[in-house]
Amino acid sequence: MLKTHSCGELNKNHVGARVTLAGWVDRRRDQGGLIFIDLRDGQGIVQVVFNPEVSKPCHDIASEMRNEYVVRVSGEVAPRPPGTENPKLPTGDIEVIAHNTDILNPSKTPPFYINEDTEVEESLRLRYRYLDLRRERMKENLILRHKVVKFMRDFLDARGFIEVETPILIKSTPEGARDYLVPSRLYPGKFYALPQSPQQLKQLLMVAGVERYFQIARCFRDEDTRADRQPEFTQLDLEMSFVEEEDILSLLEELLTSMVETIKPEMRLMKPFPRLTYAEAMERYGTDKPDLRFGMEIGDLSDIVAQSNFSIFRSAIAGGGKVKGICVPCCATYTCSQLDELNKMVRGLGAEGLVTMALGGGTGSLNDLTGEMVKSVVTKFLTLDQVKEIAGRLGAGMGDLLLIIAGKKTRLVNTALSELRREMGHRLKLAEPDLLAFTFIVDYPLLQWNEETKQWESMHHPFTAPKDEDVPLLDSAPEKVRAKHYDIVCNGYELSSGSLRIYTSHLQRRIFKLLGYSDEEVEERFGHFLEAFDYGAPPHGGIAPGIDRIVMLLAGEETIREVIAFPKSQTAADLTFDAPSPVTDEQLAELHLRLREE
Ligand code: AMO
Repeated sequence: MLKTHSCGELNKNHVGARVTLAGWVDRRRDQGGLIFIDLRDGQGIVQVVFNPEVSKPCHDIASEMRNEYVVRVSGEVAPRPPGTENPKLPTGDIEVIAHNTDILNPSKTPPFYINEDTEVEESLRLRYRYLDLRRERMKENLILRHKVVKFMRDFLDARGFIEVETPILIKSTPEGARDYLVPSRLYPGKFYALPQSPQQLKQLLMVAGVERYFQIARCFRDEDTRADRQPEFTQLDLEMSFVEEEDILSLLEELLTSMVETIKPEMRLMKPFPRLTYAEAMERYGTDKPDLRFGMEIGDLSDIVAQSNFSIFRSAIAGGGKVKGICVPCCATYTCSQLDELNKMVRGLGAEGLVTMALGGGTGSLNDLTGEMVKSVVTKFLTLDQVKEIAGRLGAGMGDLLLIIAGKKTRLVNTALSELRREMGHRLKLAEPDLLAFTFIVDYPLLQWNEETKQWESMHHPFTAPKDEDVPLLDSAPEKVRAKHYDIVCNGYELSSGSLRIYTSHLQRRIFKLLGYSDEEVEERFGHFLEAFDYGAPPHGGIAPGIDRIVMLLAGEETIREVIAFPKSQTAADLTFDAPSPVTDEQLAELHLRLREE
């Protein structure tokens, strides 16, 4: 090794020791006679003192050092003079008196500060990701990710799971996104698809008798990038044979709980994880990814306003829709422009508009409410009793703001209110930052109707098993069939989806048919898979938590890009390598491809 110790490991016990260190110049201070260098390596930072009276040549070299130079220093560990200790630094009681030094490699001035956690434009950080990763926060995120993955591996290993790698070059796997395709050189006009997940492969491993499989699996989906979405991301993919839904949920609850308690003991968990059915989650939170760190539940007001004089409410209900609302605490003083902004937001989400009701000032009880105390365009259409009933249903008090949405499409009402709930919860800082509100969502519908294609589609993926008691409804009322499908959500993010799978070829064929696949398509796309089911496929099921999202929540970051070493930008580009990039005509020819003029 070019060094005897790492910078971060030195402490009082090393006083008097001769050490050789190597690392980067984090900061340099020239104080006339003495030069101080904060020397940084992978393990931490230590102060090095260059005193011309100890070594003049050494001091001369140090005067040439600048931030991010790579240097080596030999010297003696000494206690810092009394009063100059730095309690914020683990090595803050000592310093290294340099006797010898050399510059191993100089550095250009970096495009942003490495030694400060200042805001830097993300494209610049991604362009120079290797410098960005030197920064403390990013280093901590990388280490956290390593710990999470190691914990998962150890946890599953101890429970008899084996890690199996599956191929990256395969055939299209339906997970609802667009595939990344790889043209074949050897088979002109044919393509591999990168896996959207190893779903079919892990099921084939169950047919192969593996029984307990997992993989830290890279997945690829060509879909729009978002804060919690990347074109390539990583799942803890797992699958088990001979299990019930409960076995998988309790395994995951134990894994996540023990992982947080071990790696992030300062964070709090809700234990046991609450469980909501899909229907309950939609009813109370308007989404199947509710943030349960705060209340602000959605209330259904339809019965109260069905007979009111407000035609928008009446017609929404008459048209088969709903009138629903939430209560935002202490926001009755919101200004017209603030309310307009919320109105715009819900219109952008497809709602027809927002009805707001501010409940006067004062701290009295709802019983004291008078008509003059309610600020809303709809008060003239409602009786005071109706207003009080609405306020009571939403759990409101004086000083609160009610946000109400009416619509013929309950789905749009729910979506708009869930986004309002998320936005207002965020603005009012209602969610405790150190709380992890893991929640199981269960009893999903198997199918959803796509208005555009006029087809049924899977809520999860086509391999999800229907509940046994609902199988008879597959032909008569597909919308009522519930699935053996469960999700784990946390703080408003979907962390994992999973399900018990179909394991007989006749039921799988029946589902493909319902989804509109012709017999030929089924054979062409899934023939290999269905054939395996006829060779003794065991009952099986699994789940796949997204590792990027888990690490993001543990790190307290707002995007998964912060916890991926080399992520794609928001427009799906790799800014470090400048990819995607053109290829040569020779490469295209080899792949039997010709680019079309756009
Ligand atoms: P699903 O498609 O729901 O299920 O994905 C499971 C989890 O993977 C994460 N995830 C993503 N993370 C980052 N960027 C993306 N683009 C992205 N897409 C998904 C999420 C999500 O909950 N094969 C099934 C699992 C199973 O049934 O066992 C599957 O992939 O955290």
